[in-house]
Amino acid sequence: MESPFRADVLIGKVALLTGGGSGIGFEISAQFGKHGASIAIMGRRKNVLDDAVLVLQSLGIPAIGLVGDVRKQEDAQRVVEATVKHFGKLDILVNAAAGNFLVSAEDLSPNGFKTVMDIDSVGTFTMCHEALKYLKKGGPGRCSEHGGFILNISATLHYTAAWYQLHVSAAKAAIDALTRNLALEWGTDYDIRVNGIAPGPIGDTTGMSKLVPPEMNSKARDYMPLYKVGEKWDIAMAAVYLASDAGKYINGTTMPVDGGLWLSKPRHLSKDAVKQLSRTVEKRSRATPAGLPTSKL
Ligand code: COA
Repeated sequence: MESPFRADVLIGKVALLTGGGSGIGFEISAQFGKHGASIAIMGRRKNVLDDAVLVLQSLGIPAIGLVGDVRKQEDAQRVVEATVKHFGKLDILVNAAAGNFLVSAEDLSPNGFKTVMDIDSVGTFTMCHEALKYLKKGGPGRCSEHGGFILNISATLHYTAAWYQLHVSAAKAAIDALTRNLALEWGTDYDIRVNGIAPGPIGDTTGMSKLVPPEMNSKARDYMPLYKVGEKWDIAMAAVYLASDAGKYINGTTMPVDGGLWLSKPRHLSKDAVKQLSRTVEKRSRATPAGLPTSKL
Protein backbone atom coordinates (compact mmCIF):
# COMPACT_ATOMS: atom_id res chain seq x y z
CA MET A 1 0.00 0.00 0.00
CA GLU A 2 1.20 3.48 -0.81
CA SER A 3 2.12 5.82 2.04
CA PRO A 4 -0.07 8.89 2.56
CA PHE A 5 3.03 10.76 3.79
CA ARG A 6 5.46 12.77 1.64
CA ALA A 7 8.54 10.74 0.74
CA ASP A 8 10.89 13.21 2.46
CA VAL A 9 9.31 13.45 5.94
CA LEU A 10 12.31 11.65 7.48
CA ILE A 11 14.95 12.93 5.09
CA GLY A 12 18.45 13.06 6.60
CA LYS A 13 17.44 11.10 9.71
CA VAL A 14 19.42 8.11 11.00
CA ALA A 15 17.37 5.39 12.67
CA LEU A 16 18.49 2.35 14.68
CA LEU A 17 15.89 -0.39 15.11
CA THR A 18 16.22 -3.38 17.43
CA GLY A 19 14.37 -6.36 16.00
CA GLY A 20 14.54 -4.42 12.74
CA GLY A 21 15.33 -7.44 10.57
CA SER A 22 11.93 -9.11 10.65
CA GLY A 23 8.23 -8.63 11.31
CA ILE A 24 6.92 -5.27 12.46
CA GLY A 25 10.48 -4.02 13.07
CA PHE A 26 11.43 -4.68 9.45
CA GLU A 27 8.33 -2.96 8.09
CA ILE A 28 9.13 0.13 10.18
CA SER A 29 12.74 -0.02 8.89
CA ALA A 30 11.54 -0.16 5.28
CA GLN A 31 8.98 2.62 5.69
CA PHE A 32 11.44 4.88 7.55
CA GLY A 33 13.89 4.25 4.69
CA LYS A 34 11.27 4.97 2.03
CA HIS A 35 10.60 8.28 3.77
CA GLY A 36 14.23 9.35 3.64
CA ALA A 37 15.96 7.81 6.68
CA SER A 38 19.19 5.81 6.77
CA ILE A 39 18.71 2.55 8.63
CA ALA A 40 20.72 0.41 11.06
CA ILE A 41 19.03 -2.81 12.12
CA MET A 42 20.04 -4.84 15.15
CA GLY A 43 19.18 -8.48 15.77
CA ARG A 44 20.58 -11.77 16.99
CA ARG A 45 20.54 -13.68 13.70
CA LYS A 46 23.12 -12.61 11.10
CA ASN A 47 21.39 -14.36 8.20
CA VAL A 48 18.10 -12.55 8.95
CA LEU A 49 19.91 -9.21 9.13
CA ASP A 50 21.84 -9.88 5.90
CA ASP A 51 18.65 -10.68 3.99
CA ALA A 52 16.87 -7.63 5.42
CA VAL A 53 19.74 -5.30 4.55
CA LEU A 54 19.77 -6.62 0.96
CA VAL A 55 16.05 -5.86 0.62
CA LEU A 56 16.48 -2.37 2.06
CA GLN A 57 19.44 -1.63 -0.17
CA SER A 58 17.53 -2.89 -3.23
CA LEU A 59 14.97 -0.17 -2.43
CA GLY A 60 17.78 2.41 -2.52
CA ILE A 61 17.84 2.78 1.28
CA PRO A 62 21.25 3.23 2.98
CA ALA A 63 21.22 0.30 5.43
CA ILE A 64 23.51 -1.73 7.68
CA GLY A 65 22.91 -4.78 9.88
CA LEU A 66 24.52 -5.11 13.32
CA VAL A 67 24.44 -8.40 15.19
CA GLY A 68 23.67 -8.04 18.88
CA ASP A 69 21.42 -9.06 21.76
CA VAL A 70 19.61 -6.28 23.63
CA ARG A 71 20.10 -8.28 26.84
CA LYS A 72 23.84 -7.58 26.70
CA GLN A 73 24.85 -4.04 27.58
CA GLU A 74 28.14 -4.39 25.69
CA ASP A 75 26.20 -5.33 22.53
CA ALA A 76 23.88 -2.35 22.95
CA GLN A 77 26.82 0.00 23.37
CA ARG A 78 28.74 -1.49 20.42
CA VAL A 79 25.71 -1.33 18.10
CA VAL A 80 24.81 2.26 18.99
CA GLU A 81 28.42 3.32 18.48
CA ALA A 82 28.75 1.42 15.19
CA THR A 83 25.60 3.16 13.92
CA VAL A 84 27.00 6.60 14.74
CA LYS A 85 30.39 5.67 13.31
CA HIS A 86 28.79 4.57 10.05
CA PHE A 87 26.17 7.29 9.58
CA GLY A 88 27.68 10.15 11.64
CA LYS A 89 24.81 10.54 14.14
CA LEU A 90 21.67 8.97 15.60
CA ASP A 91 18.22 10.59 15.41
CA ILE A 92 15.76 7.79 16.05
CA LEU A 93 15.86 4.67 18.23
CA VAL A 94 13.10 2.10 17.77
CA ASN A 95 12.87 -0.66 20.38
CA ALA A 96 11.03 -3.43 18.54
CA ALA A 97 12.91 -6.51 19.79
CA ALA A 98 10.64 -8.76 21.83
CA GLY A 99 10.36 -12.30 23.11
CA ASN A 100 7.15 -14.18 23.65
CA PHE A 101 5.49 -17.56 24.15
CA LEU A 102 2.15 -18.70 25.50
CA VAL A 103 2.33 -20.31 28.94
CA SER A 104 -0.02 -20.53 31.90
CA ALA A 105 1.05 -18.62 35.01
CA GLU A 106 1.54 -21.86 36.96
CA ASP A 107 3.77 -23.37 34.27
CA LEU A 108 5.86 -20.22 33.81
CA SER A 109 9.27 -20.58 35.47
CA PRO A 110 10.90 -17.57 37.11
CA ASN A 111 13.60 -17.78 34.43
CA GLY A 112 10.95 -17.74 31.69
CA PHE A 113 9.46 -14.61 33.28
CA LYS A 114 12.91 -13.04 33.61
CA THR A 115 13.86 -13.89 30.03
CA VAL A 116 10.96 -11.87 28.60
CA MET A 117 11.47 -9.03 31.09
CA ASP A 118 15.15 -8.97 30.09
CA ILE A 119 14.47 -8.81 26.36
CA ASP A 120 11.49 -6.46 26.37
CA SER A 121 11.84 -4.16 29.39
CA VAL A 122 15.49 -4.24 30.45
CA GLY A 123 16.57 -4.44 26.78
CA THR A 124 14.51 -1.35 25.93
CA PHE A 125 16.01 0.58 28.84
CA THR A 126 19.55 -0.57 28.02
CA MET A 127 19.21 0.65 24.43
CA CYS A 128 17.80 4.00 25.59
CA HIS A 129 20.60 4.30 28.14
CA GLU A 130 23.31 3.69 25.53
CA ALA A 131 21.68 5.96 22.94
CA LEU A 132 21.10 8.92 25.25
CA LYS A 133 24.38 10.74 24.63
CA TYR A 134 23.71 10.70 20.87
CA LEU A 135 20.01 11.57 21.06
CA LYS A 136 20.25 14.51 23.47
CA LYS A 137 20.25 18.05 22.08
CA GLY A 138 23.80 19.20 21.49
CA GLY A 139 25.01 15.57 21.28
CA PRO A 140 27.46 14.43 18.58
CA GLY A 141 26.09 15.43 15.15
CA ARG A 142 23.10 17.28 16.69
CA CYS A 143 22.24 20.96 17.02
CA SER A 144 21.96 22.52 20.48
CA GLU A 145 18.15 22.81 20.33
CA HIS A 146 16.70 19.59 19.00
CA GLY A 147 16.94 16.17 20.55
CA GLY A 148 16.09 12.86 18.88
CA PHE A 149 13.19 10.47 19.11
CA ILE A 150 12.60 7.10 20.81
CA LEU A 151 9.79 4.74 19.84
CA ASN A 152 8.99 1.73 22.04
CA ILE A 153 6.87 -1.10 20.67
CA SER A 154 4.53 -2.29 23.39
CA ALA A 155 1.15 -4.11 23.45
CA THR A 156 -2.38 -3.77 24.82
CA LEU A 157 -2.33 -7.03 26.84
CA HIS A 158 -1.76 -5.33 30.15
CA TYR A 159 -4.57 -2.75 29.82
CA THR A 160 -6.80 -5.46 31.24
CA ALA A 161 -5.34 -8.97 31.58
CA ALA A 162 -4.41 -11.58 29.01
CA TRP A 163 -4.57 -15.36 29.26
CA TYR A 164 -1.17 -17.09 29.34
CA GLN A 165 0.66 -13.79 28.90
CA LEU A 166 1.58 -12.86 32.47
CA HIS A 167 5.26 -12.37 31.61
CA VAL A 168 4.59 -10.30 28.49
CA SER A 169 1.91 -8.21 30.19
CA ALA A 170 4.37 -7.36 32.97
CA ALA A 171 7.12 -6.60 30.46
CA LYS A 172 4.95 -4.36 28.30
CA ALA A 173 3.57 -2.52 31.35
CA ALA A 174 7.17 -1.74 32.28
CA ILE A 175 7.87 -0.49 28.75
CA ASP A 176 4.89 1.88 28.91
CA ALA A 177 6.18 3.20 32.23
CA LEU A 178 9.62 3.72 30.66
CA THR A 179 8.01 5.62 27.80
CA ARG A 180 6.21 8.02 30.13
CA ASN A 181 9.10 8.54 32.56
CA LEU A 182 11.74 9.04 29.88
CA ALA A 183 9.38 11.42 28.05
CA LEU A 184 9.16 13.47 31.24
CA GLU A 185 12.83 13.49 32.19
CA TRP A 186 14.53 13.44 28.79
CA GLY A 187 11.89 15.63 27.16
CA THR A 188 12.54 18.27 29.82
CA ASP A 189 16.31 18.00 29.98
CA TYR A 190 17.28 17.01 26.44
CA ASP A 191 14.36 17.68 24.05
CA ILE A 192 14.04 13.96 23.33
CA ARG A 193 10.51 12.79 22.53
CA VAL A 194 9.64 9.28 23.72
CA ASN A 195 6.50 7.55 22.49
CA GLY A 196 5.15 4.05 22.06
CA ILE A 197 2.94 2.06 19.75
CA ALA A 198 0.81 -0.80 21.08
CA PRO A 199 -0.01 -3.05 18.13
CA GLY A 200 -3.04 -5.31 18.14
CA PRO A 201 -3.01 -8.61 16.25
CA ILE A 202 -0.97 -8.00 13.11
CA GLY A 203 -1.10 -10.50 10.27
CA ASP A 204 1.98 -12.26 8.92
CA THR A 205 4.10 -11.83 12.07
CA THR A 206 5.84 -14.20 14.49
CA GLY A 207 3.62 -12.88 17.29
CA MET A 208 0.50 -13.83 15.37
CA SER A 209 1.71 -17.33 14.51
CA LYS A 210 3.09 -17.94 18.02
CA LEU A 211 0.19 -16.56 20.03
CA VAL A 212 -3.02 -16.88 18.03
CA PRO A 213 -4.06 -20.36 16.87
CA PRO A 214 -5.40 -20.28 13.26
CA GLU A 215 -8.97 -21.14 14.31
CA MET A 216 -8.96 -18.06 16.56
CA ASN A 217 -8.24 -15.80 13.58
CA SER A 218 -11.65 -16.35 12.04
CA LYS A 219 -13.46 -16.20 15.41
CA ALA A 220 -11.72 -12.91 16.23
CA ARG A 221 -13.55 -11.23 13.37
CA ASP A 222 -16.83 -11.58 15.26
CA TYR A 223 -15.81 -9.40 18.17
CA MET A 224 -13.18 -7.04 16.75
CA PRO A 225 -14.57 -3.53 16.30
CA LEU A 226 -13.09 -3.11 12.82
CA TYR A 227 -13.53 -6.81 11.94
CA LYS A 228 -10.01 -7.25 10.66
CA VAL A 229 -6.50 -8.20 11.62
CA GLY A 230 -4.04 -5.33 11.19
CA GLU A 231 -1.16 -5.14 8.75
CA LYS A 232 2.47 -4.38 9.50
CA TRP A 233 1.95 -1.31 7.31
CA ASP A 234 -0.55 0.09 9.85
CA ILE A 235 2.10 0.03 12.56
CA ALA A 236 4.76 1.47 10.28
CA MET A 237 2.53 4.38 9.23
CA ALA A 238 1.83 5.22 12.89
CA ALA A 239 5.61 5.09 13.44
CA VAL A 240 6.29 7.45 10.51
CA TYR A 241 3.68 9.86 11.87
CA LEU A 242 5.15 9.84 15.38
CA ALA A 243 8.77 10.10 14.19
CA SER A 244 8.11 12.90 11.70
CA ASP A 245 7.48 16.56 12.49
CA ALA A 246 3.75 15.78 12.34
CA GLY A 247 4.26 14.27 15.78
CA LYS A 248 6.46 17.05 17.18
CA TYR A 249 4.10 17.82 20.08
CA ILE A 250 3.43 14.18 20.97
CA ASN A 251 5.48 12.98 23.91
CA GLY A 252 4.94 10.25 26.50
CA THR A 253 2.07 8.61 24.66
CA THR A 254 1.63 4.97 23.74
CA MET A 255 -0.73 4.81 20.80
CA PRO A 256 -2.80 1.63 20.47
CA VAL A 257 -2.97 0.61 16.82
CA ASP A 258 -5.38 -2.28 17.11
CA GLY A 259 -8.63 -1.24 15.44
CA GLY A 260 -10.08 -0.66 18.91
CA LEU A 261 -9.74 -4.33 19.81
CA TRP A 262 -8.69 -3.78 23.41
CA LEU A 263 -12.03 -2.04 24.01
CA SER A 264 -14.05 -4.94 22.68
CA LYS A 265 -16.69 -6.76 24.71
CA PRO A 266 -19.22 -9.32 23.57
CA ARG A 267 -22.54 -7.64 22.67
CA HIS A 268 -25.02 -8.70 25.34
CA LEU A 269 -28.16 -7.21 23.71
CA SER A 270 -29.18 -6.60 20.11
CA LYS A 271 -29.74 -2.97 19.09
CA ASP A 272 -33.49 -3.65 18.72
CA ALA A 273 -33.66 -5.21 22.16
CA VAL A 274 -31.92 -2.18 23.64
CA LYS A 275 -34.40 0.24 22.01
CA GLN A 276 -37.35 -1.70 23.38
CA LEU A 277 -35.89 -2.08 26.83
CA SER A 278 -34.81 1.53 27.30
CA ARG A 279 -38.19 2.93 26.10
CA THR A 280 -40.03 0.64 28.46
CA VAL A 281 -37.84 1.67 31.36
CA GLU A 282 -38.27 5.39 30.54
CA LYS A 283 -42.07 5.07 30.30
CA ARG A 284 -42.18 3.26 33.60
CA SER A 285 -40.03 5.89 35.34
CA ARG A 286 -42.15 8.78 33.91
CA ALA A 287 -45.28 7.14 35.28
CA THR A 288 -43.70 6.91 38.75
CA PRO A 289 -44.38 10.01 40.96
CA ALA A 290 -41.17 11.42 42.37
CA GLY A 291 -40.24 10.18 45.81
CA LEU A 292 -42.48 7.13 45.76
CA PRO A 293 -40.81 3.73 45.52
CA THR A 294 -42.22 1.75 42.56
CA SER A 295 -43.19 -1.03 44.95
CA LYS A 296 -45.91 1.31 46.44
CA LEU A 297 -47.60 1.82 43.03
N1 COA B 1 6.87 -22.13 27.51
C1 COA B 1 7.33 -22.04 28.78
N2 COA B 1 8.58 -21.60 29.09
C2 COA B 1 9.39 -21.28 28.06
C3 COA B 1 8.98 -21.37 26.71
C4 COA B 1 7.65 -21.83 26.46
N3 COA B 1 7.18 -21.91 25.20
N4 COA B 1 10.02 -20.97 25.91
C5 COA B 1 11.04 -20.65 26.75
N5 COA B 1 10.65 -20.81 28.02
C6 COA B 1 11.47 -20.63 29.22
C7 COA B 1 12.56 -21.68 29.24
O1 COA B 1 12.07 -22.90 29.75
C8 COA B 1 13.61 -21.02 30.11
O2 COA B 1 13.27 -21.11 31.48
P1 COA B 1 13.94 -22.28 32.43
O3 COA B 1 15.41 -22.03 32.42
O4 COA B 1 13.31 -22.06 33.78
O5 COA B 1 13.55 -23.59 31.82
C9 COA B 1 13.47 -19.56 29.74
O6 COA B 1 12.17 -19.39 29.17
C10 COA B 1 14.50 -19.13 28.73
O7 COA B 1 14.36 -19.93 27.59
P2 COA B 1 15.50 -20.00 26.46
O8 COA B 1 15.01 -20.87 25.35
O9 COA B 1 16.81 -20.35 27.08
O10 COA B 1 15.58 -18.46 26.02
P3 COA B 1 16.20 -17.84 24.74
O11 COA B 1 16.92 -16.64 25.21
O12 COA B 1 16.96 -18.81 23.90
O13 COA B 1 14.92 -17.43 23.88
C11 COA B 1 12.62 -16.70 23.90
C12 COA B 1 14.07 -16.38 24.25
C13 COA B 1 12.18 -17.84 24.80
C14 COA B 1 11.74 -15.50 24.19
C15 COA B 1 12.48 -17.14 22.43
O14 COA B 1 11.15 -17.48 22.19
C16 COA B 1 12.92 -16.04 21.48
O15 COA B 1 14.08 -15.85 21.29
N6 COA B 1 11.99 -15.32 20.87
C17 COA B 1 12.30 -14.20 20.00
C18 COA B 1 11.30 -14.05 18.95
C19 COA B 1 9.91 -13.84 19.46
O16 COA B 1 9.46 -14.45 20.39
N7 COA B 1 9.18 -13.01 18.82
C20 COA B 1 7.79 -12.80 19.19
C21 COA B 1 7.49 -11.38 19.28
S1 COA B 1 5.78 -11.18 19.73
